Amino acid sequence: MTLAEKVNLTTGTGELMGPCVGNTGSALRFGIPSLCLQDSALGIGATDNITAFPAGITVGATWNKALAYARGVALGAEARGKGVNIQLGPVVGPIGRKPRGGRNWEGFGADPVLQAWGGAETVKGIQANGVIATIKHFIGNEQEAYRMDIIPHGLMKAISSNIDDRTLHELYSWPFAEAIRAGVGAVMTSYNDVNGSASSQNSMMINGILKDEFGFQGLVMTDWLSQIGGVSSALAGLDMAMPGDGAIPFLGLAYWAYELSTSVLNGTVPLNRLNDMVTRIVATWYQLGQDQDYPLPNFSANTADPTGLCYPAALFSPTCVTNQYVNVQADHAKVARNVSREAITLLKNVNNALPLSTSASLKIFGSDAENNPAGPNACNQRSCNTGILGMGWGSGTANYPYLDAPIDAIKRKAANVTYYSSDSFPSGLTAAAGDIAVVFVTSDSGENQYTVEGNDGDRSSSGLYTWHNGDALVEAAAAKYATVIVVVHTVGPILVENWIDLPSVKAVIFAHLPGQEAGDSLTDILFGEYSPSGHLPYSIPVAESNYPSSVSLLGFEFFQVQDTFSEGLYIDYRYLNKHSIAPRFAFGHGLSYTTFSRTSATITAVTALSSTPPARAPKGSTPMYSTSIPPASEVAWPTGFNTIWRYLYPYVDDPESITATNTFVYPAGYQTTPQPDPVAGGDQGGNPALWDVMFTISVKVTNTGTVAGKDVVMVFVQYPSDNPWDTPIIQLRAFEKTDTLAKGASEVVTLQITRKDLSIWDVVSQNWIIPVSKTAPFLFWIGDSSANLTLACESLTKICSGGRVSPVVVPV
Ligand code: NOJ
Repeated sequence: MTLAEKVNLTTGTGELMGPCVGNTGSALRFGIPSLCLQDSALGIGATDNITAFPAGITVGATWNKALAYARGVALGAEARGKGVNIQLGPVVGPIGRKPRGGRNWEGFGADPVLQAWGGAETVKGIQANGVIATIKHFIGNEQEAYRMDIIPHGLMKAISSNIDDRTLHELYSWPFAEAIRAGVGAVMTSYNDVNGSASSQNSMMINGILKDEFGFQGLVMTDWLSQIGGVSSALAGLDMAMPGDGAIPFLGLAYWAYELSTSVLNGTVPLNRLNDMVTRIVATWYQLGQDQDYPLPNFSANTADPTGLCYPAALFSPTCVTNQYVNVQADHAKVARNVSREAITLLKNVNNALPLSTSASLKIFGSDAENNPAGPNACNQRSCNTGILGMGWGSGTANYPYLDAPIDAIKRKAANVTYYSSDSFPSGLTAAAGDIAVVFVTSDSGENQYTVEGNDGDRSSSGLYTWHNGDALVEAAAAKYATVIVVVHTVGPILVENWIDLPSVKAVIFAHLPGQEAGDSLTDILFGEYSPSGHLPYSIPVAESNYPSSVSLLGFEFFQVQDTFSEGLYIDYRYLNKHSIAPRFAFGHGLSYTTFSRTSATITAVTALSSTPPARAPKGSTPMYSTSIPPASEVAWPTGFNTIWRYLYPYVDDPESITATNTFVYPAGYQTTPQPDPVAGGDQGGNPALWDVMFTISVKVTNTGTVAGKDVVMVFVQYPSDNPWDTPIIQLRAFEKTDTLAKGASEVVTLQITRKDLSIWDVVSQNWIIPVSKTAPFLFWIGDSSANLTLACESLTKICSGGRVSPVVVPV
């Protein structure tokens, strides 16, 4: 490839300079088109005829790996059908460290193992279609406010997520490592700094952790407009600048594009580094088979019109066919509905208030039951909370092809329904005996470029309370009706203390963010055609103050907001357990219409424990190319070339005048000799021995109730009591969902515990260490939430027994 072709592939053509949210240049001589990068993690963003899938947090609440995969397959099929080369999802960062964090709902839950499974299965599903998935945002993207530099860089830097090495490994990077092991093709960096260095040019994070230790072979791109330097980001390991613009978009200025050509010609950026960027991009493209019959984009994220400007941000743009309205939905509504239904989490159900009879007299309250009267897509990127809440707001959204509102689905099933379309309780209502009130409430959040009802992305103004006075609506209904069912559509945990113990609040359902299938998926559960099997992907605390102040939102600070992750490994249930604070509903909690027993647990040692893993294999060789600086003519403007003003090109005026000056002052510590192989590395994701199975645990699950249902078996590990490292009392390490078990039916569920599951990240030796003890066992707690743990297996005696005292505090 010429220098121009190489640079083309590394740099976006500029914001609004192509059909997709990101578009690279091309290398047409090799059949490589301009690559289309498009959101989102729940559907193909900003286009038509697609499926608006349930959000990541909803997938997490299913605890169903096969469903996560199936949704990924459907997402990828739609991306391919629209001609998307690189899909900008899934999200595993934020993890949900801050309960108010704006984008937690795009990921799968506040635990690294749950998050990792959601991410890895989605990656595999998307990539099964030949679409390159992007795991994002690397790393520490836990709050929306102050996430970006205020231009120009340096006036006020993006928030710095200050994360210690052990916490980085055991919590925040865990899901990224698992996605890399699953073969993800792309990683997106985050807006925030990590430990004071911008994520887009953080050599420790990109070169060190992602590429060297985790063995990531694909491409690393910036988040949009977060590149802050050209040479610095190239040297730090960045491979693709998105959407390509420099500090200020729409001016035709870039840190890379023509500047990268210049830096290679003048010897500042080693040609090897550019070759590495391009190898990663092209190899990923080939690996996913995109050289074979891959469609070009047939839509425009910029307009819904059939024809329009090819480059809306250009001063003078040619006109293109912008949208062909290709329908890519196939039968994906089914998988969307399956996920939304299986996520539905029954938190409380007194006297079997649920399921409802279709002949019951139902009084439905709350605007969350109906569609936004202006249409489900009335607000740009769902930046309003009007009507049924099916997704949060921001780039992590898609347009609804339709939104099946709960009230419509309820009316389709039940005969006797009255709907009060308001968030205020109507005056003068009298409840008749037998009336059942169903109250719909919400809590919303999203991305920082929109402020919705005072919430700047994070739930800064609403806190963890329901929006639109939802609590008052529940309380008013509870004052009138003997039976109240509360249905919550929410981005994350809410506080339920104002009403949870009211005697008439008989049942509470979290339906999370269900996407387009909000209605039928809910009525499947409400009327008992299916038994609920969702489980909380986070804890519901009694009060926000139960958590440490370090996980609160941070406000303005001069120069840079410092977000120090001082709670370390102790987020969500890990923190509550450590401080013996009873949650209202524990992480993993979820009821069913049936009951399950878990019996005959056994544990088998598969691999003998050793404190350190077997040594990794040495690094293989890397592709070698010529290192001589290419002829300057390779980036000269082609003769007769018709430029589009503001489009980012690799070409340079008078390239022959650029000579290797070597006057660039490299950062202290810059070196070109390879680092020693990291002991924890060795393959995609890390040392492959980390995935050696140490124990298998099996348990027989029997449906002991009266209706069919699915159970989730979770295994939480408790480290040996003489473990010298300060470690959470219990940590989720494995889980499986059963098939549908008919009344009386059983299934033996087998779970695997790997070396990594038993290891601590030792910051001194930079390795994963198992605290092997001759006298104190690992305990493997088996249950269906972090607080329902009375059955355990021991690593030394291999005894499994029930009736034990819970290792952690139980709910209030
Ligand atoms: C910014 C968001 O943080 C990222 O998730 C998204 O993919 C890009 N914008 C492109 O829309």
